[in-house]
Amino acid sequence: ETDPFMFKYRGVYFQTEYTSPQKIDSIQDFKVKDSDVFLVTFPKTGTIWTQQILSLIFNEGHRNGTETVATNYRVPWIEYNIKNVDYDNRPSPRLFSSHLPYYLVPKDLRNRKGKIIYVARNPKDTAVSFYHFLKVLVKIKEVNEWESFLDHYLSGKVIGGSWFDHVKGWYTHQEDFNILFLTYEEMKKDLRSAVLKISKFVEKELEEREVDTIVEKATFQNMKKDPLANYTHVSTDHLDMGKGSFLRKGTVGDWKNLMTVAQNEKFDTFYHEQMRGIPINFTWD
Ligand code: PPS
Repeated sequence: ETDPFMFKYRGVYFQTEYTSPQKIDSIQDFKVKDSDVFLVTFPKTGTIWTQQILSLIFNEGHRNGTETVATNYRVPWIEYNIKNVDYDNRPSPRLFSSHLPYYLVPKDLRNRKGKIIYVARNPKDTAVSFYHFLKVLVKIKEVNEWESFLDHYLSGKVIGGSWFDHVKGWYTHQEDFNILFLTYEEMKKDLRSAVLKISKFVEKELEEREVDTIVEKATFQNMKKDPLANYTHVSTDHLDMGKGSFLRKGTVGDWKNLMTVAQNEKFDTFYHEQMRGIPINFTWD
């Protein structure tokens, strides 16, 4: 069964509505500036959260002058230019997001121009978050059965492709890029430290009081209420919030509520095969 809302190109799936193979190819030659910051994630692993943090860091914790711009458009996707913005001429520092694998991002990044923040989340919680999100996402076929979704996910038949290839690819090519590698779980454990790590990496000095504000505005509870961050601004043609919410639970270990013992064993076996020799330590609960 094919889903007309997504297409496969160079090993990963993309949303048909917002991009094309030509556009994906043209990203390779996108001119990166040293002041650019790219947030790279596999879907459902902390994108809006880090977009919020980055946007707040560059606005010293407030939103002066851009009060009505939603967080996801402050840090727009390079491969999905939904608002048709002139990316080349955006004022610096330019912030971008991407779900691209390491081999499809602008070539300049590989020459260590610009900065990349990569956020990884444990693949079990990522799968659960993805499964619930497909109910909300109108223009992607929903996979009703958790068991069949899990098969799609493990074989990379979801937007973004295989979680395993994505994380492995970025993790093993870190040396090629100017990159800060973070996990969702460490952000969850100590948000303040994560904000400080990010601000240091992007070379943005903040006052104590500004850090307090950023941390406050980036908690799950506050983002869930923040109309610029909680995706309620997106039209119902795209997101049906009657079927769930974008900021759903925001926890570590929710996979335990969905996975059976057998599914978990299968998952663990697959994980160990795929991630052999990759020393990433995830928190699983
Ligand atoms: S997307 O579609 O790729 O942009 O989705 P993404 O933003 O990467 O992932 C959504 C999940 O991130 C959770 N989230 C948070 N968790 C903790 N704290 C904060 N502040 C936060 N903001 C977003 C969100 O709830 C989704 O995870 P689940 O597990 O579904 O709740």
